[in-house]
Amino acid sequence: MNDVEAKLMEAQEGALAALVDVQSEPGLEEWKQANLGKTSLVMRMFGSLGQVPKEDRPAVGRAVNALKVALETAFTEKQQVVKQNQLSQAIASEKLDITLPGRALRRGRLHPLNMTLREIYRVFGDMGFQIYRSPEVELDDFNFTFLNIPPYHPARDMWDTFYTETEGVLLRTHTSPGQIRVMRERAPEDIRVILPGVCMRYEQLTARSEIEFIQIEVLVVGKGISFADMKGTLKDFVARTFGPEARTRLRPSYFPFTEPSAEMDVECFICGGEGCGVCKGSGWLEILGCGMVHPTVLQYGGYDPSVYSGFAAGMGIDRSTLMRYRIDDIRHFRNNDIRFLEQY
Ligand code: PHE
Repeated sequence: MNDVEAKLMEAQEGALAALVDVQSEPGLEEWKQANLGKTSLVMRMFGSLGQVPKEDRPAVGRAVNALKVALETAFTEKQQVVKQNQLSQAIASEKLDITLPGRALRRGRLHPLNMTLREIYRVFGDMGFQIYRSPEVELDDFNFTFLNIPPYHPARDMWDTFYTETEGVLLRTHTSPGQIRVMRERAPEDIRVILPGVCMRYEQLTARSEIEFIQIEVLVVGKGISFADMKGTLKDFVARTFGPEARTRLRPSYFPFTEPSAEMDVECFICGGEGCGVCKGSGWLEILGCGMVHPTVLQYGGYDPSVYSGFAAGMGIDRSTLMRYRIDDIRHFRNNDIRFLEQY
């Protein structure tokens, strides 16, 4: 037994001494193979325990096991040290060049229609208006009836509509139904809002009109709101959008939900009023329909027309965006062609 112990001690010292010199992963692997592998002394001794005399067997077994544990522990510790050294070396040798410029991210950009929308939001925001959202899928009553266009009234022909399969539900043809929704929510408070959003009309697709387009509704309701307030507000809007020198004019018009009604033109900003292709030689561009909110509409909205009055306006932004960026075909807006979109 004593020679066995001595032999094991010797083996342990030898193995640990060899481990001191190991500095790399292959070295570690080699050492492990030699000292803990199948043919190592430890493993061979486990294999031949059967030949040890019975009375010595437990003691020898314990001694061999102790050697195995000692070698394994030493190995694991050394492994940590080697790893740590490798890392420090890598940090020291592989210099990180932080002067290299970063890779540029591809920047998205706003759709031209959104640029126009944001510009208009900013202008009306400065003038104290709130933005109000109302549904794009509307009830017939809101799109027509409450706007003083009863069922079967010929005025409905002014708006070609997409009906859904659900009775009385349609895609709104203008943002005006939002007037009723705001009024019903706010009555009897004063109102000063814009209502932007998508509208649909059952129309032929051409370079100048699409079935889908964006409108912005303007609605002001309060006591003593007059036609002069409307004119002043809209002129101010135009001045803030097109510049203080932009001239405007109001022409009489007709809408069932306003009385009196008008349309506002702005001097053609392409030719400055001299007449060109864009304004078709007239020098003016129509930008919006407007008028004093009809008493019937006020009533449907929950306001007493003998106490309250208001004005409304509605403008399409697709055509003005066409003109603003001199785009030749309105269908570009919704084709989602990156070659078009990247130009703005
Ligand atoms: N809703 C009208 C249209 O789409 C525009 C409009 C809005 C006119 C508000 C007057 C007042 O043609």
